Amino acid sequence: MLSRRTFIGMSAAAGGLGILPSAGHASGRVLTAQPGSMRFAGEDVPATDVWAYDGQVPGPVLRYRVGEELNLTLKNALDQPTTIHWHGLRPPIEMDGVPFISQPPTAPGETFHYRFALTESGTYWYHPHVQGSEQLGRGLKGVLIIDEDEPPEVDRDILWMLDDWRMDADAVIAPFGAGHDKSHAGRIGNVVTVNGSLQTAEPVRAGERIRLRLLNTSNARLFAPHFPMDRVWIVALDGHPVPPHRPSEGRIWLAPGERADLILDLTEEPGTTVQIDDTAYGDQRRFHLMSFVYGAEPALPGRDNRPEPAALTPHILPEPDLERAERHEVVFEGGAMGGLHGAQMGDRFLSMRELVEMGHFWAINQSVPTNMMTPDPLLSLSLGSSRILDLANLTAFPHPIHLHGHAFRVLTVNGKPVPNRPWRDTFLLWPDMTAEIAFVADNPGQWMFHCHILEHQESGMMAVVDIA
Ligand code: C2O
Ligand code: CU
Repeated sequence: MLSRRTFIGMSAAAGGLGILPSAGHASGRVLTAQPGSMRFAGEDVPATDVWAYDGQVPGPVLRYRVGEELNLTLKNALDQPTTIHWHGLRPPIEMDGVPFISQPPTAPGETFHYRFALTESGTYWYHPHVQGSEQLGRGLKGVLIIDEDEPPEVDRDILWMLDDWRMDADAVIAPFGAGHDKSHAGRIGNVVTVNGSLQTAEPVRAGERIRLRLLNTSNARLFAPHFPMDRVWIVALDGHPVPPHRPSEGRIWLAPGERADLILDLTEEPGTTVQIDDTAYGDQRRFHLMSFVYGAEPALPGRDNRPEPAALTPHILPEPDLERAERHEVVFEGGAMGGLHGAQMGDRFLSMRELVEMGHFWAINQSVPTNMMTPDPLLSLSLGSSRILDLANLTAFPHPIHLHGHAFRVLTVNGKPVPNRPWRDTFLLWPDMTAEIAFVADNPGQWMFHCHILEHQESGMMAVVDIA
């Protein structure tokens, strides 16, 4: 297996990670989905053929100010259809990038124009919604940032887009479609990158306060970077502000699709290195993810007496009326070691064996869509109504559940109230976990509701919520 460490050993370090471009030049632009080439390691290892926006992984950072309009043309220079989905945004359904529901898939050589208002600040991302496992797994993804009217006071604003790749020793991306990935934990890769690079140094200056935007854009890997420092606060989740709070045990869990915005004070002495390990798969499989590498310059004044960071201005989203909200149970089943006997597909009940022969391993409320692209609605909700979904994971695997076009509040987990009921667009359900989420069905359309482990999404863990 090609580990991050072996790759790092071979790699010639490139400089300047994660510095964001300035705002304002992202309107009316063209974004081209096209084949490209990336050199992950040094000259001894061949370059990797990728599919990428404007030929680079990650794609360009799209940066706007809240209240601006996204105005962008996708040009498809791949040899298969594609679309762009704006993960976490709440556009009209026609702009959501779901093939056949929002728009026709954009064929090779064709274009599609996306245009809609950006109503909330935060850290989001964009990716195709066609052949997700392969299109994202080959590199089609990028970060979208919407700046607050009054951004928090920090010295710098940086991002780490966490991702992984499955490739062989010649750095060739491995084939897609393995049944084992679908039935188990998804396509977990063997090479981890941050901002598309194997570089592990984030140069910092003593005394800086930074905003760090973390995104997990991998197909299936969980990340849990561990910050061995005291002055670190989570200030937003999935783009939505939360009261600043310290991560429990210094770890930030991020499932595929999820984001967290942190504020960190870099209080060590000049010349220090602070290593951030990933701890998602236990101590044996802990690995070096990134390091804060302090330069030699003297500490900025005020290093030792900064006040705690102020909260970001909360987003005003339609507030679900919990007293009157109608409830729906949503049960996730199937997968290896899941004990599912079968599920309904259209008007037939299929045994697990029949489902597996068709490449399906998962079910939601004991049903599997007949057509994975355009499932029949799992739920039909009247426009403007408040709803509570009782989610339950009866499988042996974790599933990050994502709802399009809305944000939901997480009310409880395993029956216990969640402090401050954060707004999310993706929520990680561990095996045997239950959670209550609530939202107002205020955006009309047919919205995808699926697991963001892309191999699960394409093998049954996919549904539509119809709002009219
Ligand atoms: Cu990140 Cu259905 O999408
Ligand atoms: Cu899943």
